[in-house]
Amino acid sequence: MRVLGIVAKTHDSGVALLRDGTPELVLEEERYNRSKKTKKFPKNALAAAVEELKLDCAGIDVVTTPWDVRRLRRTALSIMARRFPLSLSLLAPRSHATQQNQIMILNHYLARGLRERFGAVKLPPIVNVGHHDSHAAMFFVSPFEEALVLVMDGYGDDCSSSAHIGRGNRLERHWSTDILNSAGLVYTFVTEHLGFAGFGDEGKVMALAAFGEDTYVTRFRDVIRPTPDGGYAVNMAYFNYDAFGQLRPFRRKFIDTFGAPRASHEPLTDQHRDLAFALQAVTEEVILHVVRALLKKFPQRDLCMVGGVALNCVANAKILEHTDVRRIWVPPCASDTGAPLGSALWHYHQTLGHRRGFELKHAFYGQAFSEKQIEQALAAAGLRYHRIPEAQLLRRAAQDLADGKIVGWFQGRFEMGPRALGNRSILADPRRPEMRDVLNAKVKKREPFRPFAPAVLVERANEFFEIDQPDPFMTLAPRVRAGKRAAIPAAVHVDGTGRIQTVERSANPRYYALIEEFGRLTGVPVLLNTSFNRKEPIVASPEDAIACYLKSEMDVLVLGDFYTTDRAPEVERKSPARAEPAMDEQPREAALTARAVPN
Ligand SMILES: [Fe+2]
Repeated sequence: MRVLGIVAKTHDSGVALLRDGTPELVLEEERYNRSKKTKKFPKNALAAAVEELKLDCAGIDVVTTPWDVRRLRRTALSIMARRFPLSLSLLAPRSHATQQNQIMILNHYLARGLRERFGAVKLPPIVNVGHHDSHAAMFFVSPFEEALVLVMDGYGDDCSSSAHIGRGNRLERHWSTDILNSAGLVYTFVTEHLGFAGFGDEGKVMALAAFGEDTYVTRFRDVIRPTPDGGYAVNMAYFNYDAFGQLRPFRRKFIDTFGAPRASHEPLTDQHRDLAFALQAVTEEVILHVVRALLKKFPQRDLCMVGGVALNCVANAKILEHTDVRRIWVPPCASDTGAPLGSALWHYHQTLGHRRGFELKHAFYGQAFSEKQIEQALAAAGLRYHRIPEAQLLRRAAQDLADGKIVGWFQGRFEMGPRALGNRSILADPRRPEMRDVLNAKVKKREPFRPFAPAVLVERANEFFEIDQPDPFMTLAPRVRAGKRAAIPAAVHVDGTGRIQTVERSANPRYYALIEEFGRLTGVPVLLNTSFNRKEPIVASPEDAIACYLKSEMDVLVLGDFYTTDRAPEVERKSPARAEPAMDEQPREAALTARAVPN
């Protein structure tokens, strides 16, 4: 039985194909149309799936989508009623820029797109799955037979946080919050207030928080308060988003307490860092409160965290450290990037009752490209290259890394979800303290305060990090062991943590072998890993990878078995991307650790 999960009209549009309970492909449209968090119908992703799987309409038994549209309409009406007529402004597209009004007629829109693809045929039925049910359904591919499942995101179709108990092929919802009582939305709006993009840049604020101090923590505790029933309450005296959405999310009280919003080009000050600190600290407190209440109520000690908030790897690590949770599992597509897959899983297991038989052990469900495609892309770019047998290629790339070179690493299928996990990665040497700044300034062109993830052989993780469970999807930020900080200085964030990825040989043999080889050369089985992109969606095709390599200052590009260090000056000169203004957007906040001196 094949299920097509699909979504559009909301951020992270994409498709997922599930066959007899096993994912075949999970493809986000942004990788194809190169528009971050696109809301467009995923026609390119669908086309790639159709081509690879030789799909026709008859080959799809049912289509699922991760929004219960009828429920969403009811919820929208009740929100409008609460602050009518001010809430009429919620009809303005800019008030909810990450989701279009047409989501209210999503099925109609999806049917139209599917007909365009498959012709005027009779389509399989389209089944609407609740948004949080779709997130929670990732439990069915988790390593746990039984677990607590906590979903926290911006908002779904009826709530913004929900807790479920998963047992075998069943999920049962036990708790949920009102849709506007959203710790996730608060995080998103404060992210925007700090001059970053909401629904996308929350991770930057999480990184920035480590540079702050506790100036605002007490005051921020009045913004979101844990409640005695094990939930939390957002204090709407600070917010206006229930009437104006993204147009005017804050009331005067918020501005008076925490300061005016920062424009993205303005420098970051202590005030911004301290607000980020307070936001992160209080969000952690709220999450820990919710988790502790669940632990009191239910006997399960394993936890699945899903939803956009589950990308907060710092909070996830605190759950492990400060509660009785034994193991935590966050899928690589915890955000809405995994919602189409989740909707298919919900339908297959929860609705149809099929047994579980698949565990998600890696994230490589994107498209792969043939050697011929890679070679053609290299030739079209005018690059000189070598084709090298695997063992030799690994030795060469590991030596390059040990020599301090930055390597673009493109292999096999691209990852699902927002993290590069070794198939579309930029890799570097974590032993060099300067490497983080070099990567930020020369290759990624991003804010200098953002850390890079250490990828470590799973067997050696505990030696370098305070962690005793695997973390294959970069979802935890444990502390780097004090004795190892000097060994991998570029991988240690200012708060002493590392956003790790543990690598198992069986999940990605070539990537594992590369880190192993680097470990043999240097004694350190750890590489710095960052996503293969520069201010754009992570690269998908060899052409994307080559374009990114040419416009940045990577030293080496490895595409499958192909190796190049050529800069092809004639191509480089022609590349319009080369003319891009240098984006050292923040004055090199070397500054970030130094606080303003009061006068
Ligand atoms: Fe979501």
